[in-house]
Amino acid sequence: MAPTRSGNAVPRGRVAADMRIGIIGAGHIGGTLTRKLAELGHEVRVANSRAPETLADLAAETGATPVWAADAATDADVVIVSIPQKNVPDLAPGIVAKAKDGAPVIETNNYYPQQRDGRIDAIENGTVESVWVGEQIGSPVFKVFNGIFWKHLLERGVPAGTPGRIALPVAGDGPG
Ligand SMILES: NC(=O)c1ccc[n+]([C@@H]2O[C@H](COP(=O)([O-])OP(=O)(O)OC[C@H]3O[C@@H](n4cnc5c(N)ncnc54)[C@H](OP(=O)(O)O)[C@@H]3O)[C@@H](O)[C@H]2O)c1
Repeated sequence: MAPTRSGNAVPRGRVAADMRIGIIGAGHIGGTLTRKLAELGHEVRVANSRAPETLADLAAETGATPVWAADAATDADVVIVSIPQKNVPDLAPGIVAKAKDGAPVIETNNYYPQQRDGRIDAIENGTVESVWVGEQIGSPVFKVFNGIFWKHLLERGVPAGTPGRIALPVAGDGPG
């Protein structure tokens, strides 16, 4: 077993996981990713729309560090933004700017104009949803984790090679 930065042991055959990951949004998807990524040994900083103290239970459960949203991306190797589409414009300008150079920014949004988000004109007029998110936060983004129900993400992970394993799409412009 190889120790990771968090001190967790990694089972044989698994890669030691020690990235610093900033997660903005601690709900169904952000909370699930906090649980899964911390369990793998990554250093997770997680934020919601309120003070870090409001995430004390999630922090105690996972070992993740609760932070203000403005601090979640600082020095991160990966940033994940997982909040409702309608709330994205509330994020501070440059909210992901303090991540490490080249750190990918992931967003998990699905746009629900009737049920939750209201009409967002730019998207209705043809701007791709994730491009719109990227414009709001000032960084290109990859869309990941939007195609799976949070409970399945929490409970249905299986090792590579397992028959019936769920694959998740990743969309975005990679380097080169
Ligand atoms: N639920 C699913 O199964 C699922 C699956 C795939 C994709 N998605 C998509 O993923 C996104 C997140 O969904 P969810 O179900 O995880 O939402 P959720 O359970 O409602 O949680 C939303 C989280 O975003 C936080 N938040 C809202 N505004 C914020 C802001 N301005 N700054 C920082 N944090 C903020 C909330 O913090 P507070 O608690 O402080 O309000 C909360 O922690 C949505 O676009 C959703 O459509 C969801």
